[in-house]
Amino acid sequence: MSQHTHTPAHAHTHAHGDVTGFNREYFDEHAHKVEEEHPEARQVGLNSVNAMRAAYPTPFDAQRTEVLDFACGTGLVSQALRPHVKQILGVDISPASVEIYNKQAADNGFSDMHAVCAELKGEPHELDGAQFDLITCCAAYHHFPSIDATTRVLSSLLKPGGTLLVVDLAAVGANTELVPPTHQHVVPHTHGLTEDAMRVAFEGAGLTGFEMGEAHRTMTARFGETHWFLARGVKPVQNL
Ligand SMILES: C[S@@+](CC[C@H](N)C(=O)[O-])C[C@H]1O[C@@H](n2cnc3c(N)ncnc32)[C@H](O)[C@@H]1O
Repeated sequence: MSQHTHTPAHAHTHAHGDVTGFNREYFDEHAHKVEEEHPEARQVGLNSVNAMRAAYPTPFDAQRTEVLDFACGTGLVSQALRPHVKQILGVDISPASVEIYNKQAADNGFSDMHAVCAELKGEPHELDGAQFDLITCCAAYHHFPSIDATTRVLSSLLKPGGTLLVVDLAAVGANTELVPPTHQHVVPHTHGLTEDAMRVAFEGAGLTGFEMGEAHRTMTARFGETHWFLARGVKPVQNL
């Protein structure tokens, strides 16, 4: 008889290393209880949007700004963004999250926000060729298998002169694990993200004006005090 090591349940449905598949499954299962499991999640979204607006007010124009809220989840960040921008398209890989996003928008009469379920690859004509003034991505970069590849996709969806703003978990030490073992199959970046890694991703995607600083520190029920960074990059107006 062959020897078996313990195989987690999620390994039966996905090839080893299918982080995106594990994420879809995890967030589909947890979408309806996100605010129960993370009572601070709505406040984290609000704090993140406030940090973006304080550091970079120019991209926020209620008459003009068209936003892509990437990895939008159930819409907590989009709901905080909407008073400050014209229109928001949310994109997420989790159908259950997108359903809740659109239900909350409809129930509240928020006609300026809508989400679609898609796994973006950076191919031409994704999202019907739409391009955005502002792309936001909150609390999701630590879930992406390649932040370099994802940042290239997001850069391709910015209008010339458009801005990418990312809020995520700041690395607090090379050996400090921020994520418990139970969640590591959905989090490739268990130490958070460093400024160097973010700079490489943004500059590799052709973005200029890279800056990174502290967004906020917010206590979370599960992980204690969490340091969130804000990173900014701008799509050049002309590729020289
Ligand atoms: C912790 S939640 C954050 C949701 C939302 N941005 C917020 O701050 O409330 C992370 C989200 O990333 C999404 N996600 C993970 N990998 C993704 C990918 N490759 N493409 C799009 N969304 C992804 C998950 O489905 C989940 O909704």
